[in-house]
Amino acid sequence: MTDDDHRVLMVAYSFRVPLSAPSFLGNERQYVDECFSANQLSSFGRFLGDFEAALAAAIGAPYAVAVQSGTAGLHLALIALGVGYGDEVWVSDLTFIASANPVVHCGARVVLIDSEPETGNLDVSLVLSELDRRIATGEALPKAIIPVHLAGHVARVDLLVERANELGIAVIEDATESLGGGWTSGPAAGKSVGTLGTVGVFSFNGNKLLSTGGGGMVVASDAALLSRIRHLSTQAKLPGLEYRHDAAGFNYRLTNLAAAIGLAQVERLDEIVAAKRAIARRYAEGFEGTGVAGPFWPNDVDPVHWLTTVRVRDRDTRDGALNVLHAAGYEARALWPPLREHAPYRDAAVIGGAVAADVSYRSINLPSSVGLEPDDQDAIVALLTSTV
Ligand SMILES: Cc1ncc(COP(=O)(O)O)c(C=O)c1O
Repeated sequence: MTDDDHRVLMVAYSFRVPLSAPSFLGNERQYVDECFSANQLSSFGRFLGDFEAALAAAIGAPYAVAVQSGTAGLHLALIALGVGYGDEVWVSDLTFIASANPVVHCGARVVLIDSEPETGNLDVSLVLSELDRRIATGEALPKAIIPVHLAGHVARVDLLVERANELGIAVIEDATESLGGGWTSGPAAGKSVGTLGTVGVFSFNGNKLLSTGGGGMVVASDAALLSRIRHLSTQAKLPGLEYRHDAAGFNYRLTNLAAAIGLAQVERLDEIVAAKRAIARRYAEGFEGTGVAGPFWPNDVDPVHWLTTVRVRDRDTRDGALNVLHAAGYEARALWPPLREHAPYRDAAVIGGAVAADVSYRSINLPSSVGLEPDDQDAIVALLTSTV
């Protein structure tokens, strides 16, 4: 099959069982009502601070700033860290395009890092050896590195941060897909994704583990850096009666209304994380001894499996399986192609080989909504194993 054939294979089905629907079963409506009663829907209200404090406490981060999206959070982090024209930023090749676009919007250059084979996360050994090579040859080092924790997996930021800190390279963890994941052994044992790097960024868009309809959160342990991020998110307006601004800022602050939903969602974080992991475990049992590999639980980390990702033999098998699942009303999805295949990144330098493409083309994200019925899960397992 040609690339074009693969592109047109997706048929518009209506899915009875979605990929990852949000779960609004807590205090969301009550808190939203409170916003209306207080007439505080926009940039002021108690929920902004309460949502930030609750999320920070849940993941062990000292400070957090709520923003309008994960993309906005990444953009603010880069700007606050001083990334600009002429700088290089290293980004996971296998990720959603939003991980890289803010780098371009800062005027910096994206360099792509190939994947490790099991999780598809960036291969830290490639990063470390390229840093050593550049130091030996006197070549410039990147200003920042953006490792992405993919689909609930945990990228090995723990093996990277010390070296990056020594070299003055910022690490921006794109933790948009892995809220609730963390490390189980080594110096990072007990820590959550997003809290090891210089900055961590989360997303609460429509299908993420927690949703505010659209939204994001930036965390950092450097109070001054986070306060700069907060300032930039509100048009860099200085306190006072007049409209005085000390920088060209952004309108990236989350609304109180969305934060109200966010607070109610964080109150159920443990329950939702447990449900995601239980779904992945049931899939794992179902696929044991079949031609479907995964979901994976690598050593030293505790993935959250926001989406259960499994691997099949090749790209044709993947497409066949997706169409069988779609026809039965199950919204399974392919992974994104590596960034190097998208128009804006075709000329980007790549560190490493072509593992990202192999992982991408053989992977399937399975329906993983909280509340997924066991009967549907069993049917998905039966359908998928029958096609591989
Ligand atoms: C890996 C990754 N990075 C960044 C983003 C951007 O988050 P948002 O949609 O909240 O802007 C997303 C999600 O959409 C994502 O999956």
